[in-house]
Amino acid sequence: MNFLNALNGKDVWPPPLWLMRQAGRYLPEYRATRAKAGDFLSLCLNPALAEDVTLQPIRKFGFDAAILFSDILILPMALGQGLRFAEGEGPRMPPLESLAGLKPDNAPGIYAPVIETVSRLRGSLPKDTALIGFAGGPTTVACYMLDGQGGGFPRTRRLAYERPEFVKQVLNILTETTIEYLSAQVKAGADCVMLFESWAGIFPPGQFRAFVIEPNRRICKALKKRHEGLKIIGFPRLAGLMLGEYARDAGVDAIGLDSVTDIKAARAACPAGTVFQGNLDPLLLKLGGKAMEEAVEALLADVRGYPHIFNLGHGITPDVPEAHVARLVELVRQGG
Ligand code: CP3
Repeated sequence: MNFLNALNGKDVWPPPLWLMRQAGRYLPEYRATRAKAGDFLSLCLNPALAEDVTLQPIRKFGFDAAILFSDILILPMALGQGLRFAEGEGPRMPPLESLAGLKPDNAPGIYAPVIETVSRLRGSLPKDTALIGFAGGPTTVACYMLDGQGGGFPRTRRLAYERPEFVKQVLNILTETTIEYLSAQVKAGADCVMLFESWAGIFPPGQFRAFVIEPNRRICKALKKRHEGLKIIGFPRLAGLMLGEYARDAGVDAIGLDSVTDIKAARAACPAGTVFQGNLDPLLLKLGGKAMEEAVEALLADVRGYPHIFNLGHGITPDVPEAHVARLVELVRQGG
């Protein structure tokens, strides 16, 4: 399997390809299935429909990997924190005040439909398509839990200085439950897992070490002990100069690279042989045309000779024309 070979450090050419948020609103068939489900959360918790939307971009574009359709905020919801997705506004939760409301013992029962989606996908995916399980990184999930919404996370940033013990307790609960959650996904058939630490980059170095690297390290260590040979992709978005330390210490096998980091600088900062995934600016997929074509050619030239998984530096936006995705696939399949 090309995707797993690249993840295992083999130089595969052309590089395997998938896109973050490849199942989503830019696809008319996704919008139809979401309408059938009623809303986004009901879709995440309906195994038959979540299976179908996971497969939609595979059927249409033949990507090398499918990512489980769910959301990183299903875990805090399963822990007992209220969650709703306000149309056009993104996620909303009541900002977490204490640990008392969190019920880790109940979580597996509540996220069970997501695990069932993984099992179904194991049976329905083409044999040469890898299945990626995922969870949010503890810090990114804690940001949403403590602030109750996206947008700079001012309360989390303050609490990290004023009540670091509280933040650490939240991170501990998330670290432990994330290990169980990802382990259940692997047992159900995920070929590898990805940790979305999308807001890693908002913390200064000391907090980055304590809140991002350390919990990620504990998760990777525990998962690898339980599941021999399991590969883990970390996505410490906007980590900047902390990327090298993350790559060295967090225990991940591959780094999801945002699009503001120069891939040559990233390679120089990380241990030799580090596998990278991503790096293409998502805006290019919206623009298409010459801008996209040139950037794709340039990235292909940059990664030639290295193990690389072709992807964006962040998720596809809903305004991307499908024809641009088709063209991107064609360009990558040609290998530049
Ligand atoms: O990549 C995939 O296709 C897998 C499924 C997936 C979703 N979200 C589906 C989704 C994954 C891996 C995520 C991760 C996620 N969710 C992250 C980390 C990655 C990132 O984008 O930084 C974060 C921060 C979230 C939380 C979240 N979920 C936000 C902030 C939003 C609203 C933003 C938006 O795009 O509207 C969501 C909603 C969401 N998650 C959608 C999808 C397809 C859109 C829901 C819809 O309206 O249909």
